[in-house]
Amino acid sequence: MSSQNYDFTKMPQSMEEFWMPFTPQRLFKKDPRIVVSADGMYYKDVDGNTILDAIAGLWCVNAGHNAPKVKEAIKVQLDTLDSTLNFQYGCPTPFIAAEKLCKVMPDSYNHVFFSNSGSEAVETALKMAAAYHHARGEGGRRVFIGRDRGYHGVNYGGISVCGLSYNRSMFGQLLPSIDHLPHTHNLEHNAFVKGQPEWGAHLADGLEELIQFHAPQNVAAVIVEPVAGSTGILPPPKDYLRRLREITRKHGVLLIFDEVVTAFARMGEYSSTTLFGVEADILCMAKGLSNGVVPMGATLCTDQIYDGFMGGPEKGIEFLHGYTYSGHPLASAALIGTLDTYEDGKIMGNARQMMKVLEQEIHKLKDAPHVVDIRNVGLMAAVQLETEEGKDPLRMSRSVSYELFNRGIVMRYSGPNIQLSPSAIVTEDQIKEMCGTLREVINDVAAGKVSH
Ligand SMILES: Cc1ncc(COP(=O)(O)O)c(C=O)c1O
Repeated sequence: MSSQNYDFTKMPQSMEEFWMPFTPQRLFKKDPRIVVSADGMYYKDVDGNTILDAIAGLWCVNAGHNAPKVKEAIKVQLDTLDSTLNFQYGCPTPFIAAEKLCKVMPDSYNHVFFSNSGSEAVETALKMAAAYHHARGEGGRRVFIGRDRGYHGVNYGGISVCGLSYNRSMFGQLLPSIDHLPHTHNLEHNAFVKGQPEWGAHLADGLEELIQFHAPQNVAAVIVEPVAGSTGILPPPKDYLRRLREITRKHGVLLIFDEVVTAFARMGEYSSTTLFGVEADILCMAKGLSNGVVPMGATLCTDQIYDGFMGGPEKGIEFLHGYTYSGHPLASAALIGTLDTYEDGKIMGNARQMMKVLEQEIHKLKDAPHVVDIRNVGLMAAVQLETEEGKDPLRMSRSVSYELFNRGIVMRYSGPNIQLSPSAIVTEDQIKEMCGTLREVINDVAAGKVSH
């Protein structure tokens, strides 16, 4: 069959074979929500309906769907070199991509290890931290500290440091030598706070105790999302990240920021370290990095980390790690096209404006029924709904999210939270439409008019 004979805009004949990620297979396949094309802020579904994308794919297409420079760079690469190995051979594209990426990042980050997803970017970061200590003769540092309610992808390292018990529950014993900081969500002190809460910086001080408990010479790294995303958007309390930095530095423990969600315009900057004014030793990125068009992950590190690996024999592999597709030419071209898309600063400027609009509009939902908290920072916001005691606890949030799709908006639920994370090209009117429709749907679900 030639590619001309495929029509990717029709319902597939069979849905049985594709085992979908993080999806109730039977429920979805009974009533599938299928999109077939996208442009800018909108999808078209299989019936031709226009759907407003309020979550940028899955925090991915931060420069909007169908970004011309991304497509162009991929096409040029595809017509030149479709695939190659990067183990002990190379091609120009990942080198160009890495140089361009480091140029826009804060000065401290001059080295990039590419992978294919956020999970792999995290796995790379954890192994990089352990191997860095090993290379310096401190191989005893094997303890990793994550945070309750943290999400770091799905690989064994990532779910070990992650703090979502539900995500870990099927997999038994995970990595040994793991501990967790408390999360920073507190309805009593911080409900309906706009942006970063004043209360909660002291929770970072628990790190001192954890490091002492495990003994500093055993602790490799602390990993946190600057803003906890998947768990329902928890902005860091003011001064919290700085305190983590201070404590880790004091004990020679590395700090890893999992920026898979928070990088690339989500916080109005390439890296949220610029917004929060705190730098980690290692950054994990994915998603918006290639505008979600070709899978890609990246683990960035400082000179100190990279140089720590470079002291051994020149003919030896310094870091025994890598994926067949690390620095794949098509992904690297997508990254180059993404950076070109942001180059004139217009999208980043729009993101900064729209962050304020999102804050203003989303907090207007405070008096909607069953709303117990609203949180926002950057271009991320969550509305937390009451869970119904003795009933299916996620009925409200799931019903709201599914019904929003029926009314032309993609908005995701995670636990009891409805999450918004629009692309950085979003307009004020689109934010108003998202928040307005969300209110209508919450009202209708609360009134028992719809349920999913
Ligand atoms: C903070 C964070 N880290 C890692 C990941 C995993 O990324 P991926 O799904 O690309 O493996 C995610 C995904 O949402 C994430 O939010």
